[in-house]
Amino acid sequence: MFDAKIYTTRRAVLQQQFKHGLLLFIGNNDAPMNYTDNTYHFRQDSSFLYYWGLDDPELAAVIDVDAGTHTIYGNDFTIDDIVWRGPQPTVAERAARAGVTAVATREALARALDEAVRKGRRLHYLPQYRHDNALAIADLVGIRPDMVNAHASISFIKAVVAQRAYKGPEEIREIEAAVNLAHDMHVLAMKTARPGMYEREVAGAMAGLVESRGSQLSFPIIFSVHGETLHNHAHDNLMQAGQMAVNDSGADSPLHYASDITRTIPIGGKFVGPQRDLYQAVLRAHKKALAAAKPGVKWMDVHLAACRSLAEDLKAIGCMKGDLDAAVREGAHAMFFQCGVGHMMGFDVHDMEGLGEQYVGYDPTVTRSTQFGLKSLRMGRALEPGFVMTVEPGIYMIPTLMDKWRAEGKFTDFLNYDVIDKFRGFGGIRVEDDIVVTDTGSRILGQAIPIEIDEVEALAR
Ligand code: GLY
Ligand code: MN
Repeated sequence: MFDAKIYTTRRAVLQQQFKHGLLLFIGNNDAPMNYTDNTYHFRQDSSFLYYWGLDDPELAAVIDVDAGTHTIYGNDFTIDDIVWRGPQPTVAERAARAGVTAVATREALARALDEAVRKGRRLHYLPQYRHDNALAIADLVGIRPDMVNAHASISFIKAVVAQRAYKGPEEIREIEAAVNLAHDMHVLAMKTARPGMYEREVAGAMAGLVESRGSQLSFPIIFSVHGETLHNHAHDNLMQAGQMAVNDSGADSPLHYASDITRTIPIGGKFVGPQRDLYQAVLRAHKKALAAAKPGVKWMDVHLAACRSLAEDLKAIGCMKGDLDAAVREGAHAMFFQCGVGHMMGFDVHDMEGLGEQYVGYDPTVTRSTQFGLKSLRMGRALEPGFVMTVEPGIYMIPTLMDKWRAEGKFTDFLNYDVIDKFRGFGGIRVEDDIVVTDTGSRILGQAIPIEIDEVEALAR
């Protein structure tokens, strides 16, 4: 945990945003895999970690704005718990590390909330993504489970986003530790992947490395020669010389901040044929986006700069044609780049996505597009110092999309379908780094990870 002062300051800032009411935080529980005692690895809720720091299941917390009290609710281990799971510090001992002196049982939480509801006090809680916690809130507050998220507090969401979006130096250090772990995963993958190997052998080696360092993956590994599928979590393919594997993977720091890095590896050690030109196109778009990322610049414009750069190179290769300003405006480039150029990152790999992307990535100055491709941009608003973003342009050759758009006669002014057809089976290319926005620009976080063609080929040989 950070020093207790960090948590007390964060809570004080949050509390100041409210005049009345209760702010309820529900921590995560162990999640059963196939029966209660056989669980998935535990991951604490990120807002709970941010304000209270405690990384254990079955905790809740309340800030009573009117009384000015901060209370952690949880039950101490019984003798049976201790027999099976070992001794634990008491809730009071753990709470002290977060600068909290008031503790009470979960039963006391039910009584406190019941009293607050009866008195008609405003009870603020965040949207829930775990069903057990949605049920717990429904029970505590006395509403139907399917109405829990509809009643989540928008002022609470906005106040949390307004704090968590700006990463302090202690958070940047954590994220850099997570990126450095990802560095080792990616270098290992470049050195390991070779023809005749299954993808799962490389994915497993990376997962093993992370676990051997006492950490966890920040999201399920994407490692596939079918990199054209954006979130491909299957690792079943036997890799062949001449293919490329997209490796999108990252790890948690000790305090559970994420990294999210992508590199594309030539299987057999050499980018062949059009792979080289398309890799350079993605890398050029990456550099354009990195250079564009500055305070005051809308992330939408960083995205469009990357799209424009991709479109120029795709025109040079013959896949695109015509007026590129119009092509990008109308979304023709989304034949090749169907997603956004990046997202906010912090505790969560898509930071605070559980609170609602419209609060994290959009504001009254930028509305979310409904256009195919652009609608998947998770953030459009202007960058500010302290924001941590991923930068991840790519080119994805998706045969089903080629067939669909061709059959529909879509974008025939901008797309050369006969040339595009030659890229069936090409797969995909993505590169991704994590950046922090500074006062004057931005910088890539963590140890540099090989990205230039000769660097990647040298490791992959
Ligand atoms: N690393 C997966 C993603 O950004 O969606
Ligand atoms: Mn990402």
